[in-house]
Amino acid sequence: MKLFCFYIIACICAFELHYTSDPKALCLDGSPASFYKAEGYGTGVKSYILHFQGGARIEGATYDDMIKSAYLRLYIEIIQRSKTKLGSSKNLSKTTVFEGMYARTEKQNPYYYNWNLIFFNYCDGSLHQGYKTEPVEFLGTKLYFRGDAIVKSFLSDLLPELSKAATVIVAGCSAGGNAAYFWVEHIRALLPSDVDVYGVPDSGMALNLPAIDGTDYPTESLNLLIDLVNIEVTHPNKQCVQKYKNEVWKCYYAQYIFEFIQTPLFIIQSMYDYYSLTARFKINCAKNYSLSNCSQEELDFAQDLYKQNYEVLSQRKRDHPETGAFAPSCLEHCFLLKDYYDSSDWQVPGESGNTIQVAINNWLNSKPNPENNFYVDNVEWPNNKKCSNAESNSYSHLYAISILLISQII
Ligand SMILES: *[C@@H]1O[C@H](CO)[C@@H](O)[C@H](O)[C@H]1NC(C)=O
Ligand SMILES: *[C@@H]1O[C@H](CO)[C@@H](O)[C@H](O)[C@H]1NC(C)=O
Ligand SMILES: *[C@@H]1O[C@H](CO)[C@@H](O)[C@H](O)[C@H]1NC(C)=O
Repeated sequence: MKLFCFYIIACICAFELHYTSDPKALCLDGSPASFYKAEGYGTGVKSYILHFQGGARIEGATYDDMIKSAYLRLYIEIIQRSKTKLGSSKNLSKTTVFEGMYARTEKQNPYYYNWNLIFFNYCDGSLHQGYKTEPVEFLGTKLYFRGDAIVKSFLSDLLPELSKAATVIVAGCSAGGNAAYFWVEHIRALLPSDVDVYGVPDSGMALNLPAIDGTDYPTESLNLLIDLVNIEVTHPNKQCVQKYKNEVWKCYYAQYIFEFIQTPLFIIQSMYDYYSLTARFKINCAKNYSLSNCSQEELDFAQDLYKQNYEVLSQRKRDHPETGAFAPSCLEHCFLLKDYYDSSDWQVPGESGNTIQVAINNWLNSKPNPENNFYVDNVEWPNNKKCSNAESNSYSHLYAISILLISQII
C-alpha cells in the first residue's frame, strides 16, 4: 500500500521526458528534440501551459563566429558536464522537477499544480525558430539549425490534446520569452476558437537600444542569425515579416511584434532587466543586482531604460486594454519557474500583497475586470524597497547630490 501511494505521488510530481516524432526536428548536435511533460489531473485536466526554455542564443560579429558560438554551446556542455543542455538532448534525465509556476504541489503552486505543464527544451540555439536543411560542419562536428521544425513537431505531437483543451497558456523565459512572443499567434491560429489562448512571456522584452558605448552588437548579430537560419523559413509571425520585409530583425523585438499579436498578453518584465543591462547595454556596475555602485552616467542610462520600458508597456496597454503586466523596478531576469513566483519580496506595487502568482491569477480570471491587473511599478529603482537590493546609504547620498545639482540648475 505504501509503495502504491508513493507511485501515485511520483507520477503526479515528476515531469517526464518525451522525444518528438518528426525526424527533421533535431538539436544542434543532431540528437532528437525533446520536451518535458507533467500530466494534468482533477480540475487541471483540460488546462495547459507551454513553457519555452531560455538560454540566450548563438552570437557573433561574423558568420564564422556564429558557427563557432553554436559549436561552443555543445562543446562547453560536454567538457563541463553541465546540467543544462542547450544544444543536445543526449544525457537529459528521464524525469525532472521545476519550481514556481511549475511546482507540482498545491501548497507551492495553488493555481496550476494539477495542470498539464509542458516544458519545451531549447536546443537549437536560434531562439526556437529558423531552419536549415543542410548541417554546417565545424571542426568535424555537424551542426543542425532546426528550431522551426522542432516547435512545429512539438505542436503536432500535442495537437490532439491541445485541440480539446479549455485553456492554453504560452509562456517562456528570456530566449523562451522571445519564442512565446514569436509563436503565440501561430498557436492561436492552430487551435479551435473555443480554446482560450493566452501569452505570458517572461523577460522576453529586450528593447532595441544601443549600449552605453553607442554600439548595437545584439542587432548586428541578429541580422547574421537571420542570414544563417531564416533563408528557408521565415520568422514564425508571418504578418510581422510581411510588414517589415526589409528589416525583419524588428520582428525579434517585442516592441515591434506587439502590433501583430492579438492574443491577450500578460507581460512579465523587470523594468531594469538584469540580462539586458549587464550583457547587452554594458552597465557593468549592475552586476550585483543593484545600481548602488553606478556612475551618474550609468544611473541615467538605467533610469532612461525604465522610462522607455514604461512607454512601450503603456503603448501596448493603450492598444490592447486586456493586457496585463507584472513589471517591478528591480534588477532581475526570469521569474516564473523560480521562487520569486510567490515571494513576498517581489510585489508590484511594493508591499501591496500583489505577487506574480496573485497578479497572473487575477488577470486570467479577470478580477475585478480585464482592464485592471496591469502592474507596472510607478516608482523608479530603488523605490520598490522589497526587491531593490539598494544599499540605501550610498544611493541616497548619490540621490541627494543629484537633487542638489538639479535644483541648482533650475
Ligand atoms: C553524455 O555522457 C557521456 C558519458 O558521461 C559523455 O561521454 C558525453 O560526452 C555526454 N554527451 C553530452 C552531449 O553531454
Ligand atoms: C560586487 O560585490 C563584490 C563583493 O562584495 C565586490 O567585490 C564587487 O566589486 C561588486 N561589484 C560591483 C560591480 O559593484
Ligand atoms: C559596491 O562596491 C563595494 C566596493 O567594491 C562592494 O563592497 C559592495 O559590495 C558593492 N555593492 C554592490 C551593491 O555591489
